[in-house]
Amino acid sequence: MATVVFPGSFDPITLGHVDIAVRARQLFDRVVIAVAHNSTKAPLLDVDVRVRLAHLAVSHVDGIDVASTDGLLVDFCEAQGAVAIVKGLRGGADYDVERPMALMNRSLSGVETVFLTGDSALSHIASSLIRDVARHGGDISDYVPPDVETAVLEALRREN
Ligand code: PNS
Repeated sequence: MATVVFPGSFDPITLGHVDIAVRARQLFDRVVIAVAHNSTKAPLLDVDVRVRLAHLAVSHVDGIDVASTDGLLVDFCEAQGAVAIVKGLRGGADYDVERPMALMNRSLSGVETVFLTGDSALSHIASSLIRDVARHGGDISDYVPPDVETAVLEALRREN
């Protein structure tokens, strides 16, 4: 049984992330979405909320689990028995960011990173843009599941 880990901040999870998770599940037996606490960014959503929203977003697909992680990704991968890390690439800029992380993770533990190309119709979607559009009153319903839209709007209301 081949498990892969799909890590990220997921602040919030988007339809682009869901697309990658489902594509990964078509290739591997089990996909674990790893929601990172990520100390370098101040998240809009608490990690527990991000985990809950990720659960809801993939609940229609068997074999996709969700967990949070606060440590090194390679340690989480080992604990999960993962054969690889999965990341989605929207374009060259993503590759430039992901390449050093893939090399570092392989250098640390030998784990490989598998890059998947998502649906081109979703390639403009990024969590940072979703937060920004919502913060400025824009409609995010085309880019995130309904539960995510509700949670983002609630979090922004609390921020103000
Ligand atoms: O969605 P993001 O914020 O681009 O995801 C980045 C993430 C969470 C995948 C990366 O920061 C990470 O792997 N964090 C866990 C800590 C770790 O292992 N850092 C070294 C990565 S080479």
